[in-house]
Amino acid sequence: MDKSNINQLVQELKRYGQEHILQFFDQLDEQQQQVLLHQVNEIDFKLLEYCRSLLQNKQQTGQYVPGTLQPLQVIELPKTPEEIAGVDRARACGEQTIAQGKVAVMLVAGGQGTRLGYDGPKGTFPVGPVTGRTLFQYHTEKILALERRLQTVIPFYIMTSELNYSQTTEFFAQKQFFGKDRETILFFRQGMLPALSDGGKMFLEEKGKLSVAPDGHGGLLRAMFKNQILEDMEKRGIEYIFYFQVDSPLTRVCDPVFIGNHVLKGAEMSAKTVYKSDPYEKLGNIGQVNGKNVVIEYTELSEQEMEARNADGRLVFGQGSIAIHVFNVSFLRRLKDENISLPYHLAHKKIPWIDAFGNQEKPEKPNGYKFEQFIFDALPFAETIMVQETDRKQDFSPIKNKEGQDSPEQARQDLENLFGSWLEKAGIPVKRDKAGNVLDVIEISPLVAMNEKEFLERHPEPQTITGGYLYDKVG
Ligand code: UTP
Repeated sequence: MDKSNINQLVQELKRYGQEHILQFFDQLDEQQQQVLLHQVNEIDFKLLEYCRSLLQNKQQTGQYVPGTLQPLQVIELPKTPEEIAGVDRARACGEQTIAQGKVAVMLVAGGQGTRLGYDGPKGTFPVGPVTGRTLFQYHTEKILALERRLQTVIPFYIMTSELNYSQTTEFFAQKQFFGKDRETILFFRQGMLPALSDGGKMFLEEKGKLSVAPDGHGGLLRAMFKNQILEDMEKRGIEYIFYFQVDSPLTRVCDPVFIGNHVLKGAEMSAKTVYKSDPYEKLGNIGQVNGKNVVIEYTELSEQEMEARNADGRLVFGQGSIAIHVFNVSFLRRLKDENISLPYHLAHKKIPWIDAFGNQEKPEKPNGYKFEQFIFDALPFAETIMVQETDRKQDFSPIKNKEGQDSPEQARQDLENLFGSWLEKAGIPVKRDKAGNVLDVIEISPLVAMNEKEFLERHPEPQTITGGYLYDKVG
């Protein structure tokens, strides 16, 4: 960066009261200086100023007033013959739409996975009970299997952050993109935002490094707009985007039934839910506030609302969002053209920093704020939405924590329980404990079968392994 550009950046920092960021500049070597200048150059100062104003007013946009949420109409799990026929209709419509090449898959994989505490992008986490198949492999193979079955191309877009971009792209390259055509996998980076102190100042993480964090899964829209992803999709004739998160190996990626329901309803955005396992399960609540469709975080609902039940005993707000969506490309195009931005949420966090004397500080209490956008905040902008319940045993097993609930161990058990049920349907005996959990070690590649129906139709031969079954060979 030349002198005049540097001067310009210094002026910009001064204008926004952030010049302390360069206080150790003279102590840095040339390369470190360039890194810091590059980071400063990337800052959207207007946005930073906006975040600072949110902080000063201690006011998050669209804060929920307890007691105002109303339940929404949901396509629940089918029980009657008509409802089952409805699922078949949706599947046929979804498969036709995918076969016509109108659907792309969008994976958001830019999170830091702090709760799991795994060294590397979460998608590289090994979860397959026999082979240690990674989350990225599961997801990609599911798309590949669908491409093969429907004789079509399904472009796969993957959003990473600045922090895990190289590791993610290198991992895919090393694994030869899991057999999917390289030209149909596209990576892009989400934005990063500086953390701010209670007084609205940026932090230095090191003398030559700003403290920045990814701008949340809702940063997807900003990143898509900046990286011309919509234009790329429009060029490829894509009309619908299946959106999902990296953490669940059970997710039915590009689920034809969900896509079909979305298309048949004429929705602009759709959301998948599970019925909560208990009133306090940590899932967002879908409903309406003042006639607008919204997701309200579990932390915001009152106890009374969480416990409320209908006459049939079911929870009034029992449908929890599992962060799986379909978007119309035309809907996102409208948001882009109308310059609509999702709100920013403030998270009070402990942020390690370098103080004015150059000492490394590790705060014991939250000392600053990170700013994040959430993708479900796009819901109120959609003219029409569709909400569909799914069966968690077949579709939802997120890996969030090291141990206990939502842990890798739980996800592996959920995979084995699902695979075990397919084997039993095929007449293959499976060992279970008293609680019904499958004890055999079982893994079925998505390329062999993606669901019970395919498994029964294909009668695959297992490879022999001790204490279980592996179905990994195609053909
Ligand atoms: P989570 O909310 O679980 O966050 O992300 P996380 O960062 O992965 O994990 P913790 O909270 O630090 O433990 C849900 C999904 O959204 C993506 C994640 O990669 C995951 O697929 N995500 C999250 C992003 O793509 N970008 C972000 O800035 C945040």
